[in-house]
Amino acid sequence: MKIAVLPGDGIGTEIVAEAIKVLKALDLPFQMETALVGGAAFAAHGHPLPDATLKLAKEADAILFGAVGDWKYDNLERHLRPEQAILGLRKNLGLFANFRPAICYEQLVDASSLKPELVAGLDILIIRELTGDIYFGQPRGRRTSVDGLFPGAEEAFDTMRYSKPEIERIAHVAFQAARKRSKRVTSVDKANVLETFQFWKDVVSEVGKQYPDIALDHMYVDNAAMQLVKAPKKFDVIVTGNMFGDILSDEASMLTGSIGMLPSASLNASNQGLYEPSHGSAPDIAGKGVANPLATILSAAMMLRFSLNQESAAQRIEAAVQSVLRQGLRTADIYSEGTTRVSTLEMGNAVVKAL
Ligand code: IPM
Ligand code: MG
Repeated sequence: MKIAVLPGDGIGTEIVAEAIKVLKALDLPFQMETALVGGAAFAAHGHPLPDATLKLAKEADAILFGAVGDWKYDNLERHLRPEQAILGLRKNLGLFANFRPAICYEQLVDASSLKPELVAGLDILIIRELTGDIYFGQPRGRRTSVDGLFPGAEEAFDTMRYSKPEIERIAHVAFQAARKRSKRVTSVDKANVLETFQFWKDVVSEVGKQYPDIALDHMYVDNAAMQLVKAPKKFDVIVTGNMFGDILSDEASMLTGSIGMLPSASLNASNQGLYEPSHGSAPDIAGKGVANPLATILSAAMMLRFSLNQESAAQRIEAAVQSVLRQGLRTADIYSEGTTRVSTLEMGNAVVKAL
């Protein structure tokens, strides 16, 4: 089992180190190779996604990814920004299906900013389309470089587009995921304003006819954002485009207690996958040993499940995470009175011990 390890920037290196510890403790035949990505790769090689890193990722069965981004790169041309590394990996590997489960663990009910009764037992799955939409349209602005730089430009634009096959394949992923859950899919769009999302809605409805056992409903994204904090448990599977999925998954993460708890899997058609926490590189807390490694550790569990065919190992990691939470161990982001505050490293060690 070949794993490409790409820690990236900011807290990326710290949280990935803890996930690696946990993987090693499983005593499975992993072959892990690490490479630079994001701002770290730009600083060393002048590009956020060097050829060697892309090659390593392509040849691996799975990729364990930390996070990319740092304010110090804010003024770079767009194609050199750290974020282009993750976007390039998603596009080059065809990782179109992004799974972002938002589960509120019993022990963290009080860490959520919402009332306990709203989030207790919460288990929703956001499926975000990851290689289309306005993220991959044609950009033009002061820092684009496809057509040259336009430092004095007085307008900027990005184009939003989806093709029928792109919507169809993500819709199939959502309906099939719903079959293993409570058989409900909410497709989130902005069909009342955007032609791209009227098309999205039509195509999802068409695909839905092949799944008569699944209840499909449609919701405008603004309403979905509101319903997520009003009555989040009404949702089961949410399927949406790249941009709305980015925003709604950050929102949903807070229902679980902290964005530091939300793992993700990004899969292509052959189940090769990239696994990363849903949160960013948090340069403000980097190097302080306070970041929560659980989202990355839970992403490693998803990697075992989806790409490496090791379901029981995945469950062992998930059980170990629950166990440390039951023991009352908390990083700063999920700390509350009466629990024990631990560092990034201590949290990783505790998961290993629980394993
Ligand atoms: C995410 C992140 C990325 C995105 C950034 C880092 C490009 O916010 O994975 O949600 O916008 O997709
Ligand atoms: Mg995001």
